[in-house]
Amino acid sequence: MLKIRKCDLNDLIDLQKISRETFQATFGKDNTEENMQDYLDEAYNSQALTQELSNPHSAFYFVYHEAKLAGYLKLNILDAQSESMPDNYLEIERIYFKKDFQHLGLGTKLFDFALQRAQVLEKQYIWLGVWENNFPAQKFYQKMGFQRFSQHHFVMGDSDQTDYLLKKKLNFE
Ligand SMILES: CC(C)(COP(=O)(O)OP(=O)(O)OC[C@H]1O[C@@H](n2cnc3c(N)ncnc32)[C@H](O)[C@@H]1OP(=O)(O)O)[C@@H](O)C(=O)NCCC(=O)NCCS
Repeated sequence: MLKIRKCDLNDLIDLQKISRETFQATFGKDNTEENMQDYLDEAYNSQALTQELSNPHSAFYFVYHEAKLAGYLKLNILDAQSESMPDNYLEIERIYFKKDFQHLGLGTKLFDFALQRAQVLEKQYIWLGVWENNFPAQKFYQKMGFQRFSQHHFVMGDSDQTDYLLKKKLNFE
């Protein structure tokens, strides 16, 4: 049983915890400990997350599987998008599940939820960035129907990395 709930400022501590835990679990083995710590402190400090939670053009959601916090989603529209994109685009900036909750079909359901949000918000494209070496996530996005349209650079401490930008056209009736 899956439950999705929109986060608010009261969720700051839990959001910080799951953001750090899932980012570290996903990318820890590919980065130096120092670069990882610096990034976690910069991206997920209380001030940064408070600002993001307060932005009316961003929305965080917690996903519960059998009443346990399994993962989270961050959606952006308009000027909250992490790259300059048209107004009819919706960005999935973060979609992360804890290890124990991956490959259970929850990502597919959460993606369906993102599609519903895009429909409600009358968007025509859904897009995201994925690290060039995050092959499992790329497989997932391929299955969800995304196609690569660009790329951008992403700095992790002293390491310069590339994200592929993927998008999917939405055809709502
Ligand atoms: C990527 C992620 C969101 C996918 O969610 P999920 O719940 O694990 O995915 P699902 O169980 O719904 O899988 C759907 C399909 O995606 C593909 N897929 C998912 N994970 C995969 C993996 N590790 N390797 C290969 N294919 C994978 C499969 O085709 C799968 O279909 P199948 O089960 O019929 O083979 C999740 O695995 C995750 O949180 N990963 C770590 C964090 C991350 O990389 N986030 C994305 C950052 S850009």
